[in-house]
Amino acid sequence: MPTALITGITGQDGQYLAEVLHGEGYRVFGLIPGQRNPRADLVASGLPYVELIEGDLADLSSLIAALEYTQPDEVYNLGAISFVALSFKQAELTANITGLGVLRLLEAIRLVGGTDNPVRFYQASSSEMFGKVRETPQNELTPLHPRSPYGSAKVFGHNTTVNYRESYGMYACSGILFNHESPRRGLEFVTRKVTNAVARIALGLQDEVALGNLDAKRDWGFAGDYVTAMHLMLQQPEPDDFVIATGKTHAVRDFVQLAFAAAGIDDWERYVRIDPRFFRPAEVDLLVGDASKARRVLGWEPKMAFEELVTTMVAHDLEAEQRKLS
Ligand code: GDD
Repeated sequence: MPTALITGITGQDGQYLAEVLHGEGYRVFGLIPGQRNPRADLVASGLPYVELIEGDLADLSSLIAALEYTQPDEVYNLGAISFVALSFKQAELTANITGLGVLRLLEAIRLVGGTDNPVRFYQASSSEMFGKVRETPQNELTPLHPRSPYGSAKVFGHNTTVNYRESYGMYACSGILFNHESPRRGLEFVTRKVTNAVARIALGLQDEVALGNLDAKRDWGFAGDYVTAMHLMLQQPEPDDFVIATGKTHAVRDFVQLAFAAAGIDDWERYVRIDPRFFRPAEVDLLVGDASKARRVLGWEPKMAFEELVTTMVAHDLEAEQRKLS
């Protein structure tokens, strides 16, 4: 039975990936940081087959212990401080977990695995690395120009992954994923913040939603589609880096308009208040990815289109809010 260790198991991607790997017959371990982590209960009840193990990306010896205990064939590093806005307020913490955490995990794999290291490593790199984009669409060779402490930390993690592959011959892959969403997305991210607010407004539970920059454009896909690409990357004969994206971009405004329309509300502007608190010190204005390498080499392509993603998320939040009322 192949074994996988996932960091960031409590996040959206960790949960979808655990389901995919379990379906493929893997034994799945999830690394859980913190003392009495409340989100561990969520994983324990929702994904009972995941074996939880304590460890923290800030603590090298805990990573070594986790690897020695689980003896994984594949390690997926999805753990991070992943909210860009928070990274401006907690820049050092972000650099430590999102950046240095990658180095610690690779170093732990190197120390435990020795020469002819059999472990296959996946790093969750991000389209935020492209930041102030140098070309459109962005591909694996587009120069990086991060615009936040989060983006900078991801660049460090990305370069470190490439460096360990080249220096030590480790099987280390980097997936440069563009924004990917789902009903499991955290409420702090704009898509879920909006679909949750739309549901509550439609049910008369909330009057308005406060948002920041509606002009930013993102390439939004479905997280369930994207985790399959992570697994595919680690099944290739040689490790490599891949952009994962839909190739289509939409403004935050389009997402908001479509989400309100999905709940039968056409005059969406009545319910949206622009609040300067949600603007960032530096913004990533436009992201759109070129995933042709992933299509060609991995045979991967996104299945869920933007419109379906928005309506699925709104329908989920309407149902969840209605359930709370009954
Ligand atoms: N979160 C949030 N809240 N974003 C807002 C808001 C708001 O009220 N109003 C406007 N926005 C804009 C942000 O300024 C940004 O341009 C865009 O909506 C998307 O913001 P997020 O959903 O927070 O995602 P992100 O693009 O910053 O980062 C996500 O995608 C990256 C991949 O490109 C995260 O998932 C990162 O972890 C990931 O790496």
